[in-house]
Amino acid sequence: MSNTVRTLRPHDRNVAASLYAQCFDAPWERTWTAAEFTRLLESPGCFGALLMTGDQPDGLALARVAADEAEVLTIGVVPTARRRGGATLLLSTLSRRCRRRGARHIFLEVAEDNLAARHLYEAHGFVIVGRRNNYFDRGPHGHVTALTMRRDFHGNR
Ligand SMILES: CC(C)(COP(=O)(O)OP(=O)(O)OC[C@H]1O[C@@H](n2cnc3c(N)ncnc32)[C@H](O)[C@@H]1OP(=O)(O)O)[C@@H](O)C(=O)NCCC(=O)NCCS
Repeated sequence: MSNTVRTLRPHDRNVAASLYAQCFDAPWERTWTAAEFTRLLESPGCFGALLMTGDQPDGLALARVAADEAEVLTIGVVPTARRRGGATLLLSTLSRRCRRRGARHIFLEVAEDNLAARHLYEAHGFVIVGRRNNYFDRGPHGHVTALTMRRDFHGNR
């Protein structure tokens, strides 16, 4: 069944919180509640996308645009739907929407050891522009460095 993407709305908050919990299921991950999704989706410049496999929500992504800069706030695909191009579709959709809203650059932060996400971002033209040592708390596993990545939008590409 093919993947599609639709806009994530504040009334999707419960679906969003459930997807988030499935995507970020490690014990040290902080849960994003339904209320937080409502707050984010109602805040200026913020918008989201929902990945659908048929009628089934399988992933989500959120971004925020402020002036000419955008930020990917989160992106995730549930484990059972990974490696089918879902995140690629979500990231392309977000990037396009960010550009339409006037963004010339898009940033994100990723854990240095999250190789799946890093490959995804590199395939979308993101490059590493900064490091924050010991940024993400992994509970009993200590801390891991956050990499700041940026993609510049050029011309019509
Ligand atoms: C990272 C994540 C969003 C990728 O979702 P996905 O739908 O599986 O990604 P796609 O199928 O679109 O894959 C696109 C590319 O990303 C890379 N990639 C994805 N998963 C990978 C993995 N497990 N190992 C290595 N590369 C991987 C590959 O380059 C892949 O292209 P390919 O399949 O042609 O080789 C998903 O693994 C996830 O939700 N992880 C948990 C949440 C998370 O870490 N989010 C990012 C926070 S910064």
